[in-house]
Amino acid sequence: MGDKKKTGGLAGVSAGETKLCTVGKEGAGLTYLGYDIYDLADNASFEEVAYLLLYGKLPNRKELAAYIKTLKSLRGLPDQVKQVLEMIPGDTHPMDVMRSGVSILGNVEPEGDFSNQQKVADRLLACLPSMLLYWHRFHADGKRIDVETDDDSLSGHFLHMLHDKAPSELHRKSLDTTLILYAEHEFNASTFAARVITGTLSDMHSAVTGAIGALRGPLHGGANEAAMELIQKFKSPQDATKAVLEMLARKDKIMGFGHRVYTTSDPRNSVNKKMSKVLSKDASDAHLYAVSEAIEKVMWDEKKLFANADFFAATVYHFMGIPTYLFTPIFVCSRITGWAAHVMEQRSNNKLIRPAADYIGPPLQKWLPMEKRA
Ligand code: COA
Repeated sequence: MGDKKKTGGLAGVSAGETKLCTVGKEGAGLTYLGYDIYDLADNASFEEVAYLLLYGKLPNRKELAAYIKTLKSLRGLPDQVKQVLEMIPGDTHPMDVMRSGVSILGNVEPEGDFSNQQKVADRLLACLPSMLLYWHRFHADGKRIDVETDDDSLSGHFLHMLHDKAPSELHRKSLDTTLILYAEHEFNASTFAARVITGTLSDMHSAVTGAIGALRGPLHGGANEAAMELIQKFKSPQDATKAVLEMLARKDKIMGFGHRVYTTSDPRNSVNKKMSKVLSKDASDAHLYAVSEAIEKVMWDEKKLFANADFFAATVYHFMGIPTYLFTPIFVCSRITGWAAHVMEQRSNNKLIRPAADYIGPPLQKWLPMEKRA
């Protein structure tokens, strides 16, 4: 039996094989199908990365153009889905909206035969931003927005629906880059949840609904919203340093720091941090970036804990005018590519996922009739 301390939460345990991603692997780092995350962030568009994950190769020029056209044609929402989105209360957390949205779409457009899996993956990728922003704009602004904008990229489409106008190229490209960084991450909690559901031969909508539920928690995707709430609390970097020291003394967790797999840094952080700095200058707002840097410094000095992908992603989104409660749903709009790729990979060599547990309950008991119980 493995070392209990080490395997708590299955840390360090290999739970299967994947060809989709390496995380912190010596000599490779973070890669998607063998491509280095920095090459993808610097050179690819999110649609190219989505194609890579879902179709197993980088698209050539013709394939990419056709893929963008396909995704654009899949943005619309069925009336039944719109009706449900309108009925969901406006103060619901948008992660719950996404969870219900995917579930209702699975009723209206069931996957049926697994031969449809690629189409379902593309459909979800194309329409998740529509679901989120249709609901958001309906309840926040009393507006039934058109979810079929003319923007080629998902990032442009997202910001267009949010702000009623096409974004600046700086904002579009920055959002696009965060989508690339969030797209895939091996057997993280939500992806593993999706694979467990898939292992029972269930449908893709069920796997994605479960994955959204897992991503929602602050120890996983919800960390970007929690990080923003923390960063916004402080009037100065000095305030932030003092308060974080107090939090650490109380053994509070600081969201956006630490990682289960990475030990010294999260490769996605340097990209997000750079974008956060550029966007803070663009927004003429030096304050939040300075506070973020102060928190990063004190976390490293005191605990040798590093910022993960969620910490600077928070201010990247904030500087482009995205409300905090939409941060984790953006993660969904990206990670749908990784989830769907894992669903398909699991199906290609399926085995029911059903581990064993070490029993720690009472020894065998003699049956106690009702009148003899305390
Ligand atoms: N803030 C303060 N302390 C932290 C911390 C954080 N963000 N992350 C880890 N630690 C500390 C723990 O308190 C623990 O200390 P202890 O040994 O004195 O009890 C130690 O580091 C190990 O942490 P643990 O939570 O057991 O490690 P893990 O591998 O289970 O956790 C995370 C990984 C990601 C869940 C954890 O780092 C965390 O909760 N981070 C904040 C949430 C977050 O940003 N999630 C997004 C991940 S991409």
